[in-house]
Amino acid sequence: MSTPVLSIQGVTKSFGDRLVLSGIDLDVAEHEAIALIGASGSGKSTLLRCIDLLEEIDDGDVFLDGEVITDPSVSPVAVRRRLGFVFQAFNLFPHMSVIDNVTLGAIRSGTMRKKEALERGRELLDRFGLGEREEDRPDRLSGGQQQRVALVRAFACRPRALLLDEVTSALDPELVGDVLEIVRELKGEGMTMIIATHEMSFAREVADRVAFLHEGQIVEIGSPDRVMESPERPETRRFLRRLLAAGRI
Ligand SMILES: Nc1ncnc2c1ncn2[C@@H]1O[C@H](COP(=O)(O)OP(=O)(O)O)[C@@H](O)[C@H]1O
Ligand SMILES: [Mg+2]
Repeated sequence: MSTPVLSIQGVTKSFGDRLVLSGIDLDVAEHEAIALIGASGSGKSTLLRCIDLLEEIDDGDVFLDGEVITDPSVSPVAVRRRLGFVFQAFNLFPHMSVIDNVTLGAIRSGTMRKKEALERGRELLDRFGLGEREEDRPDRLSGGQQQRVALVRAFACRPRALLLDEVTSALDPELVGDVLEIVRELKGEGMTMIIATHEMSFAREVADRVAFLHEGQIVEIGSPDRVMESPERPETRRFLRRLLAAGRI
């Protein structure tokens, strides 16, 4: 088998005396999309933040393309250049235009020259229906459009993998579809992704595997159909039953 793009090995993390991640193992192959599901507080965001080196881990390691990134000698900035992270709340720079938001990272990091970054940024914005908004400030855009810009910005830097943390959960329901459409397109392009989400039908459609996180452990992982149709663990069954009762599936 070829080297996974991301290999998470025994990742453990506490906040104070609260154990939040407990020996997480997960390999993400090239072009693979993993949906990370689990109740609020189960550790999804913390796991993504540990991978992006936004949190220091207590034990274990994360490898990117076979190289350890959770070593003190590794520059977090250099790692973050190779990973794209999109948060629940669109973290666009409010004082900058859409196109500047999209190109800034690639230009500043030296990944691309300005001309190339502009070309790629414009092409992506056009493709995702945002071409007419490139000179606008983010506050002129709807939440859904802002989140689409955030996704374009992450993708514009040609990351090795994208980490998406509940990218639709701050949106009005009618805006969710357009944002998911971009994620679907990125998957179609072969983007490697870990997608923390509460959108079960979307997870089922777009993910190659679904990992269910419970109290800081991946207690079940498998194909979306298998995990969602015939969950093996009582914790997974309970979680899915609760979502069903809430009309979320
Ligand atoms: N910076 C922090 N300091 C202390 N506790 C935290 C911090 N971030 C997250 N936690 C705790 O870690 C647990 C997992 O949180 P989180 O990773 O945000 O879960 P999820 O994204 O699945 O909802 C929660 O109990 C949360 O309160
Ligand atoms: Mg979270």
